[in-house]
Amino acid sequence: MIDFSAYIRTIADYPKAGIQFRDITTLLNDAQAFNAAIDTLALHYADIALDQVVAIEARGFIIGAALASKLGLGFVPVRKVGKLPADTLKQTYALEYGEDTLEVHQDALAAGARVLLVDDLIATGGTALAAISLIRQLGAEVRHAAFVIDLPDLGGVQHLQANGVQPFALCQFE
Ligand code: PRP
Ligand code: ADE
Repeated sequence: MIDFSAYIRTIADYPKAGIQFRDITTLLNDAQAFNAAIDTLALHYADIALDQVVAIEARGFIIGAALASKLGLGFVPVRKVGKLPADTLKQTYALEYGEDTLEVHQDALAAGARVLLVDDLIATGGTALAAISLIRQLGAEVRHAAFVIDLPDLGGVQHLQANGVQPFALCQFE
């Protein structure tokens, strides 16, 4: 597999002191690397039965929409609170400081739909677990989650596995 980490830029102390921000815009800006990232994810899921891609605002939309199109699946956005126009289900989750809320349209997923969750990055897993909770509250199934980047020191992969979801990431940053 390509070393996707080589295409990701690190910005120190953004958005606050002590954070090493992993910036995927440099990967997206490189046509071959972006294509290879989507192709690698699509290949990983080629033999797994899936009905929908659910992706998380905002950076998750970029990867999720391209992957859904490549896999021939519909796309469902999970958005930050107040952005979706029809009736929604809400899930609040913990951030490093305080909390945030994600929403999904109540009619976005059929009961029993087999969902692939997509985001750009998994850190603590709190965001992904909130999306998983929304998917399950709608009666859909989620057993797989795809990311470009895993930050293993933050334990998100283990949290997802403990909740019955198998994560796959294109690269890791220790
Ligand atoms: C980032 C990233 C993931 C989340 C991962 O999103 O895109 O969604 O953090 O962190 P966690 O695993 O600790 O929950 P952010 O909230 O910065 O939103 P953005 O994509 O809109 O920039
Ligand atoms: N989301 C959570 N932690 C992050 C990091 N270190 N870089 C980019 N996005 C993030």
